[in-house]
Amino acid sequence: MGFYYLIFLIILTNFVQCGVIPSRVILVDKIGKNFLFRTNSPVQGDSYQMSELQEAMIEKITQAGYQPPQDPKIHSYSLVWFYDSIKQNYTENKYFKNHTEYQFSQYPIFGSIINPNSLPSFLAKFLAKYYPIWNHDNLNVLTKELRNSLQQQEERPKIIFFHCIAGEDRTGQVFGGYVMRYMNWTYQNALDFDNHVEERKIHNASKYGLNWYCYYLNNQGKGGDCTYEPEY
Ligand SMILES: *[C@@H]1O[C@H](CO)[C@@H](O)[C@H](O)[C@H]1NC(C)=O
Ligand SMILES: *[C@@H]1O[C@H](CO)[C@@H](O)[C@H](O)[C@H]1NC(C)=O
Ligand SMILES: *[C@@H]1O[C@H](CO)[C@@H](O)[C@H](O)[C@H]1NC(C)=O
Ligand SMILES: *[C@@H]1O[C@H](CO)[C@@H](O)[C@H](O)[C@H]1NC(C)=O
Repeated sequence: MGFYYLIFLIILTNFVQCGVIPSRVILVDKIGKNFLFRTNSPVQGDSYQMSELQEAMIEKITQAGYQPPQDPKIHSYSLVWFYDSIKQNYTENKYFKNHTEYQFSQYPIFGSIINPNSLPSFLAKFLAKYYPIWNHDNLNVLTKELRNSLQQQEERPKIIFFHCIAGEDRTGQVFGGYVMRYMNWTYQNALDFDNHVEERKIHNASKYGLNWYCYYLNNQGKGGDCTYEPEY
């Protein structure tokens, strides 16, 4: 009985927006009293699962051996764009309009349709120098904002999190950008991690978006080998 219920749950989670999935609520970084998370969308139909999300976060914080923060300030970064907001029935926007005790920012992430590794290497490197000018995602801006907020210690501890829908693609792109820039991860480590958050690989657009940022970070000696291709 329990087994079939589990199978049913797995099927269900693959086809509907099912709110918080604890395995995709992942602690990314901690500085002082503040925590940074990535997650899938906490939206389920027309409810926003804030308490389920916080429960999952507390569990991850405890598992990592830290003391859960008391009465944390919450700051949510939504990476979804207009089309997804419609699909989500604007639930998130409505929720945060009603809950002004939480901070809410929207930073739509699109990824890239051009695979830098399909270009001649000199061209990818050349374009990457000007990445902040032409790349609409400009991970430089968002990762810096997340980092600054995480570093800034206030009286109340903070929980900052970012999410898209699945918590894998756009979320994985921003995650990869952050860990390459600030935690000395290589592109290979970041991509391998993103490819194992779900049963499937990260979408190519998000992968290319992350790959461009790797080329850009290479100019600062970060990101490692950007030509890495995982085996399919
Ligand atoms: C969209 O929101 C409205 C009002 O909150 C609600 O009545 C409706 O069921 C929602 N639709 C879906 C698909 O969640
Ligand atoms: C927002 O608050 C109003 C008034 O308290 C309530 O009627 C409405 O259902 C709330 N909407 C959401 C999305 O929580
Ligand atoms: C990353 O590398 C730099 C330079 O080697 C070092 O100063 C820094 O402490 C490292 N950061 C982390 C989080 O390992
Ligand atoms: C993603 O790119 C790989 C090659 O890098 C290709 O084999 C695969 O078919 C692409 N996936 C989609 C969905 O286009």
